[in-house]
Amino acid sequence: MNLSIPQITHLQGTRYVPGDKSISHRALMIGGIADGVSEIKFCSRAADPMSTLSCIKQLGLIIEDFGEKIVIHGKGRHGLHISSAPLDAGNSGTTMRLLSGILAGQHFPSIIEGDSSLSRRPMKRIMDPLRLMGANIYGTNENTAPIRIEPVDQLHAIRYDLPIPSAQVKSALLFAGLFADYTTFIVEKTQTRDHTERMLGLQTKKEDGSFIVEVHPDVKIEGKRFFIPGDISAAAFMLSACLIVPGSNLRIQNIGLNPTRRRVLDIFRTMGGSIEIDNERIVEGEPIGDLNVHYSELKSNLELCGAEVVDLIDEIPILAVTALFAEGCFRIRDAQELRMKETDRISAIVNNLRLLGCEVDEYEDGFAFEGKKNYSGNILPSYGDHRIAMAFGIAGLRIQNVTIQDTECVDISFPRFWKELLASSKV
Ligand code: S3P
Repeated sequence: MNLSIPQITHLQGTRYVPGDKSISHRALMIGGIADGVSEIKFCSRAADPMSTLSCIKQLGLIIEDFGEKIVIHGKGRHGLHISSAPLDAGNSGTTMRLLSGILAGQHFPSIIEGDSSLSRRPMKRIMDPLRLMGANIYGTNENTAPIRIEPVDQLHAIRYDLPIPSAQVKSALLFAGLFADYTTFIVEKTQTRDHTERMLGLQTKKEDGSFIVEVHPDVKIEGKRFFIPGDISAAAFMLSACLIVPGSNLRIQNIGLNPTRRRVLDIFRTMGGSIEIDNERIVEGEPIGDLNVHYSELKSNLELCGAEVVDLIDEIPILAVTALFAEGCFRIRDAQELRMKETDRISAIVNNLRLLGCEVDEYEDGFAFEGKKNYSGNILPSYGDHRIAMAFGIAGLRIQNVTIQDTECVDISFPRFWKELLASSKV
């Protein structure tokens, strides 16, 4: 469906965002290998975590859905059963990569498939280290999905230095480490999101500037209550909309503020964005808080590179769109990983910025442009990528005659996005 973005005068009131996507995936998977009953409150109902849910159902678990909470009757790490059909990860890289870590340690075979976008994404990054652990895991000749996993008696512990910063790879290996003979060590030069470590109660040491996480095969995983905070990566879109539309004020409650995820708030503030946090607290091991945001005159002059980009990897599309309305230069480098996402996000951002009349320099690992120029509306492809659709939908709040194509892809992470964005006032 195409959506022509209406001009709204201002955003006001309260906005709701779905439960954190990364934490929802992990809660479903951990609940699926726990001993006993787990309850997941405020699990994201977006298409990606729902792919994880349907995969763990297919693996033979009893799951009850009460709307506000999902109850999983876990039977321990060897309580999963062979699925009669291939598992379908849909569009979700997190489902495919993390589940591979769990399935690599099972005594039955599995096949995990994905949609056309996921079937183009690189899987060598998980298959290589899982094979070092003794897994029998195979992809296509291009090292892409479908992934086939044959059973093994026992995985072997390794010490693995992540060649690229990726929480998905780290988490896949931590899950596989639960099925290994000894202690597995995963070493990261740049720390990526640490939800898996927090949820499994794993320790991270800092040594010579690296972060080392260790997982013992005898880690106890007992059924428990999970509370899923609001997704800061989804909230970032609402924050941006509020910052760029004059007269706007919004409150967004119960947002996850994990230090590996909250960098986007610092960047908005560096641009002059007025965002206050109140009611900060820790819930089930994750910091959360409420955000109050107000329209602001923005200035950019930013170069984002190195470790910073790792913390912002999902927020770069919306930061780029926000910078369109900020005075100064906005430059991103060291972001080549963006080319491996649901679509090649560097190329998608650069093409759409140019369609709006913005002059952009493109690099292999990023892009740069000057903000606060004259732009003109256009029909913009979403490339079937939820974050591209949402980011450029927000550009349409300030640029007349913007139409976004294939808007339904927002369901991947934020099914109510257009309703929440275009609700002129909701208290
Ligand atoms: C995620 C990790 C990141 C992120 C993705 C979710 C996760 O991917 O982009 O949206 O839940 O672990 P990479 O690990 O590929 O950087």
